[in-house]
Amino acid sequence: MPTDLLGREYTTFPAPKPLQQHGPARVIAMCNQKGGVGKTTSSINIAGALTQYGRKVLIVDFDPQGAATVGLGINANALENTVYTALFNPRMDVHDVIQHTHFENLDIMPANIDLSAAEVQLVTEVAREQVLASVLRPIKDEYDLIIIDCQPSLGLLTVNALTAADGVIIPVAAEFFALRGVALLMQSIEKVQMRINPSLEVYGVLVTMFTRTLHCDEVLQRIYEAFRDKVFHSVISRSIKLPDANVAAAPITIYSPNHKTAKEYREVARELVAKGVVA
Ligand SMILES: Nc1ncnc2c1ncn2[C@@H]1O[C@H](COP(=O)(O)OP(=O)(O)OP(=O)(O)O)[C@@H](O)[C@H]1O
Ligand SMILES: [Mg+2]
Repeated sequence: MPTDLLGREYTTFPAPKPLQQHGPARVIAMCNQKGGVGKTTSSINIAGALTQYGRKVLIVDFDPQGAATVGLGINANALENTVYTALFNPRMDVHDVIQHTHFENLDIMPANIDLSAAEVQLVTEVAREQVLASVLRPIKDEYDLIIIDCQPSLGLLTVNALTAADGVIIPVAAEFFALRGVALLMQSIEKVQMRINPSLEVYGVLVTMFTRTLHCDEVLQRIYEAFRDKVFHSVISRSIKLPDANVAAAPITIYSPNHKTAKEYREVARELVAKGVVA
């Protein structure tokens, strides 16, 4: 029997069947307060893979750096309406914020530096943890999946993402301090579960930037000991092709569909469908 990198029995998940109709969407928060672990890259590429399987996906860029927005070829600075505008104008039609990307089935709610003011402004809002959830509610039926690309912090924006989400994917880079801080993230998730969003789940831990070294193998084992079957079978290799695709403003699954990392991200997408996380 073939096994995955962690020695678990595993071949591959089946290609998702075509959908006859779309929605309502599952909402996934891509979350880790550690910077540069692959949140944005994973948001774009899981989304890219799922759109190629005919799923309709919305990425919500929830980081003032706007990396997901730029990474999908949209000039965020030129935009009047962003996720920030939607947060603070409850009467606004969110369709006026959403941008279609060049890629079929893939839309984005863009962000730019304006969003950096939101953390402070939200503090005085009514139901401040639930603002993003109410922004997303009217459009859930139009997508199969909504991915919220979080910023590297555990502040009020991230709490809003966790409140709006059905589940969380935690990207973890395969390096020495990989798990540092994840306990804190798990505490935040638990607090949101206990106080606001009891049905919030952890869909999985995604290991990124993996190389075949003894060191990475050890880190992988430690991540497995901490999260067991929550660790996705597919592990994302470290490759320069991913920053390349980023510069080209396209998901790797479209930019270079036969590349190893494109296959790895497709496999994550298949696992999400096989486990019923995404329709
Ligand atoms: N598997 C990989 N191999 C090599 N480079 C990668 C890989 N995944 C991501 N990168 C690169 O690493 C950098 C950080 O990745 P990314 O922006 O996805 O992380 P992030 O968690 O969203 O960061 P931030 O916390 O700043 O939002 C980017 O330049 C990206 O292109
Ligand atoms: Mg990011």
